[in-house]
Amino acid sequence: MSNFLTVDEVAQTLKVTRQTVAKYIQRKELNAVKINKSYRVSYSEFENFLSSNSVVSEPEAIYFKKSRNCFLDYQGKSEEKEILTSRHLGTIKPIELNHKDDFNKFIFGDNFFVLKNLLSDLRGKIDLIYIDPPYGTGQDFSNLDNDHAYSDKLLHGDFLEFLRRRLFLLRELLSENGSIYLHIDKKIGHYVKIIMDEVFGYNNFINDITRIKCNPKNFARNAYGNYSDIILFYAKERDKNIWNEVKEELTKEEENIFFPKIHPKYGRYTTNPLHAPGETIDGDTGKEWNGLMPPKGRHWRYSREELTRLDMQGLIEWSETGNPRKMIFAKEHKGKKVQDVWEFKDKGLSYVDYPTQKNHEMLRRIISNSSNEDSVVLDCFAGSGSTLFVANELKRKWIGIDNSTQSLSVVKSNFKKEKIKCNFFEYISLD
Ligand SMILES: C[S@@+](CC[C@H](N)C(=O)[O-])C[C@H]1O[C@@H](n2cnc3c(N)ncnc32)[C@H](O)[C@@H]1O
Repeated sequence: MSNFLTVDEVAQTLKVTRQTVAKYIQRKELNAVKINKSYRVSYSEFENFLSSNSVVSEPEAIYFKKSRNCFLDYQGKSEEKEILTSRHLGTIKPIELNHKDDFNKFIFGDNFFVLKNLLSDLRGKIDLIYIDPPYGTGQDFSNLDNDHAYSDKLLHGDFLEFLRRRLFLLRELLSENGSIYLHIDKKIGHYVKIIMDEVFGYNNFINDITRIKCNPKNFARNAYGNYSDIILFYAKERDKNIWNEVKEELTKEEENIFFPKIHPKYGRYTTNPLHAPGETIDGDTGKEWNGLMPPKGRHWRYSREELTRLDMQGLIEWSETGNPRKMIFAKEHKGKKVQDVWEFKDKGLSYVDYPTQKNHEMLRRIISNSSNEDSVVLDCFAGSGSTLFVANELKRKWIGIDNSTQSLSVVKSNFKKEKIKCNFFEYISLD
């Protein structure tokens, strides 16, 4: 048997699903034998398959393996290798230095060249990337005074390739515990998901978060109101990603529902049974406490000593029929697990300094959950600098990049106002 591989082993080696291997076998591209009702592939057959099958040895195989045997094709799509190895002559020069550390900096310039430049020092060192790129809308974006902020003129395949080229570089910068959140709208987001699978591997996909971005819309079109966008969340290596399990506070209504009773001293509470399923034959939790045995088929949740302590502290509520229950207080509740629909509305243009400026509370959730205090957080479409601002508040190190002069001037003036120490640089191309 040791001269054979199982279907699972073949799938693992090829980094494809079992179903794909089954298809290779069905189509007789891969010869297998049936042993004890299961297919097995001999080593020599597998080697033949590897050397003769273009799906495995051609560059496209990377896409096949990473993206469920399908990938997005469009004109002008370049090879991953070409993107990663192309050389550009350029340098990053200081514009304004306000501290002596390596991080906490904003680099003015096209992020493709800046990211390439950063790779020499920071490959594998960035724990968290949040990006909110243009969305391929064909529009120009200006602030309330009509000062031009940035153009979003690349469309369709051109836009996807613009993004894809940068995503490869971002992947290289991510640490093995790192993760990336990509903010995008629903018109192009599903194409971007396929590109993300191709670059990061669909196995590293974690969540597609629906973000409620504004109040409900009441327009006259024959359509449902679109008041959400999406955030695609991927790990560099699934399950190795930093995860701090930040919980969400209960709303007042939820608190009233889950904790319906009010204690004069400790506030809202509910009660839970003191016993759990399963009988203890000999142990302490199966014995009589306070004149009571646990109900049939159940045992006390706590030792009898602990039950007495809880009772003495007034943390057990006795019903009129003499049934004891443990009091659980709302103020001790650790919060609820965050789900994949988030409501973090952005402020309207009249309340922000930069168009498309994102909600700081949303960024606080992302940065708190997916980075630690010593982590480096990167936003290479920094805009108003919201990611950098929140990263700074949360004591992370940060790097921002943007090629808009308005972004540079908004970050400069806001950070000065907020006394955030930031070094400013500029990318100068020497090509
Ligand atoms: C949607 S906005 C980001 C807004 C930002 N998240 C915020 O909260 O303010 C996209 C940003 O990407 C920048 N951008 C577009 N193409 C870029 C490029 N090639 N290099 C660097 N920045 C770029 C634009 O100047 C713009 O500021």
